[in-house]
Amino acid sequence: MEHIAVYPGSFDPITYGHLDIIRRASSLFDKVIIAVLINESKTPLFSIDERVKMLEEVVKDIPNTEVMAFKGLTVDFVKSVGAQVMVRGLRAVSDFEYELQMSHTNKTLAPELDTVFFTTNLEYGYVSSSLIKEIAKLGGDISKMVPPYIEEKVKEKFK
Ligand code: PNS
Repeated sequence: MEHIAVYPGSFDPITYGHLDIIRRASSLFDKVIIAVLINESKTPLFSIDERVKMLEEVVKDIPNTEVMAFKGLTVDFVKSVGAQVMVRGLRAVSDFEYELQMSHTNKTLAPELDTVFFTTNLEYGYVSSSLIKEIAKLGGDISKMVPPYIEEKVKEKFK
């Protein structure tokens, strides 16, 4: 059986923290699908097409990864691609409560699926997409938090 994991998120934008988790997951599973949520109730900085393209660019050297956009419930998407596992990253205790609630909810919706948590690399424990946007907007340096290609794209948005 092929072990497929889905890494769902907003990725607005992808950070070094996300990338580290994608690398580690790709060495544990046969395939990792990075699933970008199309969320009509949020106004992202990057459109869904932009986010997919940016992800594709930064994961192109990581084997057995694929980027897809999805709508609706994560568990439905996970089942539709024949995956068994959802991957999420935990940076700090503050992430835990929300992640635990999501994982329990998803387990209730789809008992056959599991959530696997990776603790983020210490180096990136402080990195978040929303802070990156704030820093970039205020003209700060985000080069330690995102790959150069993403840094360029973020800067373009705030030009
Ligand atoms: O990167 P994020 O914004 O923290 O990711 C959150 C995400 C996309 C994983 C979560 O909001 C999600 O799964 N949304 C899809 C709708 C859904 O399945 N909701 C129930 C989850 S308990």
